[in-house]
Amino acid sequence: TGYFTYDPGFLATASCESSITFIDGDKGILEHRGYPISQLADKSDYLEVCYLLLNGTLPDKKQFDEFHLTVLRHTMLHEQLVQFYKGFRRDSHPMATLVGVVGALSSFYHDSLDITNEEHREIAAFRLISKMPTLAAMSFKYSTGQPFVYPDNSLSYAGNFLKMMFAVPCEEYVVNPVLESAMDKILILHADHEQNASTSTVRLAGSSGANPFACIAAGIASLWGPAHGGANEACLEMLEEIGSVDRIPEFIARAKDKDDPFRLMGFGHRVYKNHDPRATVMRKTCHDVLDDLNIDDPLLDVAMELERIALEDPYFVDKKLYPNVDFYSGIVLRAMGIPRTMFTVIFATARTVGWISHWKEMLDQPGQKIGRPRQLYTGEVGLEFEHVVERC
Ligand code: CMC
Repeated sequence: TGYFTYDPGFLATASCESSITFIDGDKGILEHRGYPISQLADKSDYLEVCYLLLNGTLPDKKQFDEFHLTVLRHTMLHEQLVQFYKGFRRDSHPMATLVGVVGALSSFYHDSLDITNEEHREIAAFRLISKMPTLAAMSFKYSTGQPFVYPDNSLSYAGNFLKMMFAVPCEEYVVNPVLESAMDKILILHADHEQNASTSTVRLAGSSGANPFACIAAGIASLWGPAHGGANEACLEMLEEIGSVDRIPEFIARAKDKDDPFRLMGFGHRVYKNHDPRATVMRKTCHDVLDDLNIDDPLLDVAMELERIALEDPYFVDKKLYPNVDFYSGIVLRAMGIPRTMFTVIFATARTVGWISHWKEMLDQPGQKIGRPRQLYTGEVGLEFEHVVERC
């Protein structure tokens, strides 16, 4: 009963009002709180972007120092969480571990669960932003069998993240500035992207009054899929499967074949129909990292040729399918020595600030209602029940 707008996949439905991120998909524009992503990637750093997303304006020096100090205060985890990790199989995918441990934060931090209390909401936001690199790095360390590395608050956010992933107790670890800067850019470029599937998931979970850790765990679960955050891992798998430039036409043909479920991973976007401005920055970062590290990666040759052919092919041109940010991020991460099972984990770490900014914005909006879509029912109605023995 009733008349509803039917819009599967939300192609034409705005689910909320928001002043955090602006996208004009036809023009290839992405801005956070009014600032173009290219400027933020070139001139800012991830923590400043976090401040901007959360608070709406760029900080002055004093505001930034205070913000930074608070982030540092929360980088460590409750020690008992180590036991929690040990319950997972060693060969678990780090995303599987991450979904579990982030949800479990609700059982450790009782002073950040009351969503009606502004102080609780604030501290939950800091805890999540501060602890995500620690949790993410621990998920990786656990999967490799190496000991966990505690956070080093003398380093930058990106530098500390790298150290927690790659340091071992028996050797001194020095952060490579090229990798640090690349990681910072990756974090900035993935920090927010308005009402994508995972952010919408966080908002929907939060609309019922669920606690922030549970909401972010829901977001991580949604991000994991290959059509969303899992695309960077899937893209690298695809490039490896293609293997050499001469095999590209075969895969292009498969991507165009309606009877083949194969898609070019890292291509296409629901909103960008011109170019993905994040991909432009990531493409440059990709080349800078490979040049600086003097890496000659044959997969990059495959990627560049694939990009060239696809951009000229009428199928991709007509459907406006361009390389998205994840087409390049996988190659950069691989060049940085990061295994592909960590790609989506890094995306989740970066996106946490976006999720929490949207969650906070939603709770601050007057008249906020539980998200409760309707449906068009297509099943039977009014059947007469028969006992099982009477059914033939
Ligand atoms: N390769 C081949 N064909 C494609 C591709 C692709 N990567 N993407 C879309 N198409 C075709 C699709 O078959 C459809 O054709 P038709 O109209 O003839 O049925 C048309 O283009 C429109 O596709 P759609 O699936 O209706 O578009 P969508 O807006 O629902 O999906 C997408 C967007 C990103 C899920 C999709 O382009 C895709 O699956 N891309 C590959 C995965 C990927 O790279 N995802 C990362 C997105 S960016 C990072 C993030 O936000 O998480």
